[in-house]
Amino acid sequence: MQENISLKKHHTFGISVNAAKFVVFRTEKDLLDFVPVQEPFMLLGGGSNVLFTRDFEGLVAHNKIKGIEVLRENDSEVIIRVGGGEVWHDLVMWCIDKDFAGIENLSLIPGSVGAAPIQNIGAYGVELKDVFYSLEAICLKTGDFIKFNHEDCQFGYRDSVFKRELRGKFCITRVLLKLNKIPVFNTSYGIIKDILEESKEEISIRSLSNAVIKIRKQKLPDPAEIGNSGSFFKNPVISLTQFSNLKIQFPDMPFYPVGEKEVKLAAGWLIDDLGWKGYRKGDAGVHVNQALVLVNYGNAKGTEIWNLAKAIQTSVLDKYGVALETEVNVL
Ligand code: EPU
Repeated sequence: MQENISLKKHHTFGISVNAAKFVVFRTEKDLLDFVPVQEPFMLLGGGSNVLFTRDFEGLVAHNKIKGIEVLRENDSEVIIRVGGGEVWHDLVMWCIDKDFAGIENLSLIPGSVGAAPIQNIGAYGVELKDVFYSLEAICLKTGDFIKFNHEDCQFGYRDSVFKRELRGKFCITRVLLKLNKIPVFNTSYGIIKDILEESKEEISIRSLSNAVIKIRKQKLPDPAEIGNSGSFFKNPVISLTQFSNLKIQFPDMPFYPVGEKEVKLAAGWLIDDLGWKGYRKGDAGVHVNQALVLVNYGNAKGTEIWNLAKAIQTSVLDKYGVALETEVNVL
């Protein structure tokens, strides 16, 4: 256990804040040493979905539970069990090497495996829930080991029970995924098809992963170079009635139907249309290539990023009547 530790290197926004106490755990048993946890307490994985606006006056525990194992397999499917402290992209690369298909579209998503189910990570037509089998977690109050199956997690768009009723109550120690040995390629995103055609590579999980990596590198800032947490806001889901009115005023607005009564809008387009893309005040800014990503050019304070986020929310609400929810956890 360390005291008064800088969190700057432990999260991808790179904000200078301190934690009163900091501990790393590498096994389930290590974690049980400080259960039941005292408040305030926070679990940190890759730190890729958090904005700190102040020092953390409690204990930050960093999950480094590692290990990838094949639990069962047949000719067409395999179930793997992965430590929550594994780096997500390393897992994707491991699966590609083994020819296990299903998460290649989720290449290069920053963060840890244990955090992936919490917000049901997703990109280019695939979400974690599509390959999720179950997870193992430890209750932070009682130390009980609990298994959650697919249904228990109540996955939604960038959402699960761990963001709602069970927020902060469990540590996800292991995640089980069901992957395919006979790949089904998801090239529903036009840009992926374009890149594959351009590269003239035969379609495979590796070429699909390479295409995703190429797109992400073009559009999204590398947290090792510019602090950020990926999409800062969720894409808003609105009613068909509200959408019909907006579409008349803004005919170019991209949209994606969700069921029969709702429509998802592209928050990046709304923010871009308002002229925020590339905006910078001090070291807080809106990324030049993707308006949904807020960035720290070096020494921005968390409050400066948060003030910028609130200004964006206000201007989107004023112009389109749409409320943007944060995807990132703001502390
Ligand atoms: N757009 C603009 N200007 C911008 C950004 C986007 O006009 O600055 C338009 C695009 O042209 C496109 C639409 O908005 O028509 C959607 O953009 P894009 O395909 O880039 O995806 P997104 O909705 O902005 C979502 C995820 C990303 C994920 C991509 C690809 C959310 C909140 N974000 O972004 O996830 O990589 O789709 O699947 O759902 C993340 O969660 O951190 C993340 C990066």
